[in-house]
Amino acid sequence: MTPYQLANNTPLTLSPKFTLPEAERPNLSEVLPSDSIPIIDLNDHDIDDGQGPSPLVSKISQACEEYGCFQIINHGVPKELCQKVLVVATEFFQLPPEERAQYLSKDHRKQVKVFNYYRKYEGIGKVTMWSETFSHPWHPTEDFTHLLPTNPPQYREVFAEYARAIGVLFDRLLSLISRGLGLDEDCLKRRIGEKPGLNTQANYYPVCPDPELTMGLPDHNDLGSITVLLQVEGVTGLQVIKDGKWLTIDPVPDAFVINLADQTQVLSNGKFKSVRHRAVTNKLLPRLSLGMFYNPNYDTVIGPIEDLIDEEHPPKYRKYSFKEYMEEFYRQEGKRRSVKEAFELPRT
Ligand code: OGA
Ligand code: NI
Repeated sequence: MTPYQLANNTPLTLSPKFTLPEAERPNLSEVLPSDSIPIIDLNDHDIDDGQGPSPLVSKISQACEEYGCFQIINHGVPKELCQKVLVVATEFFQLPPEERAQYLSKDHRKQVKVFNYYRKYEGIGKVTMWSETFSHPWHPTEDFTHLLPTNPPQYREVFAEYARAIGVLFDRLLSLISRGLGLDEDCLKRRIGEKPGLNTQANYYPVCPDPELTMGLPDHNDLGSITVLLQVEGVTGLQVIKDGKWLTIDPVPDAFVINLADQTQVLSNGKFKSVRHRAVTNKLLPRLSLGMFYNPNYDTVIGPIEDLIDEEHPPKYRKYSFKEYMEEFYRQEGKRRSVKEAFELPRT
């Protein structure tokens, strides 16, 4: 089999450049099935009867406390649209490497870019992950559509339609999660701010001859508020950590995976968890995932929401601007990041 050529024209092979040091390998035989991670039907009963949260809100808040992760079905985004966006993203990664190379960049400020994740290990150096990533903004479309690929030809149009639908879904999810914290439904959205940073990331994981030796994406927490992740059906790869054990998130037909990210953990003063997750590679089939992110902008000040603080629940994090958060994030580049910890207050 001819290996996949990355945009930087490197063939993806099990050379030392892509092989993890032994202690960092995924240990796939120890990964558990994720039977317990909730699959939540957004059509569930959602009327507040004045006696506390609706059944839907209760399910969501329980998932946010226990896992920081859940899947949703009956979310209102048409199946055909999800399929179309997965097709155009896959076609992008199947373009000749020279064509994808025009987007290559390591510059954080670059809006539309192709890059590869890596980790640096002491005594070994840089190991590149078994994947390629394409990222760009998803809103407001008029500002950046002209920078998006014209090949595949439907990319721009399909993406714009997908972004509109996911925008509606984000509003709904942020409001359900706010209510889950016992807050007004617009609270989280207001805290994340007027002009959120809306980015998307498509990750392509070519077939790997030995998934025990590589990683698709290293373990990490997403940075923003929440992530709406779409994965191709029938190919596993995403895993989340719960009580120190890795669990596989099997793709459920017509579902999105919702990951809680760092800012939600901080805003909720630690009540809701940002989920640590990773992607492993697959021996039989290539895999594609598409994450839609919803971040504060650099000027937004984030800290535990005052209504969630009292004598029993002192603030766990200090206030910071999202710019500070991102500076800390970039400082930890290539390492096993633990950005939130840098903003923790000492326990009293
Ligand atoms: C991400 C991510 C996981 C996946 O893009 O942040 O975690 O399943 N992706 O590919
Ligand atoms: Ni992620």
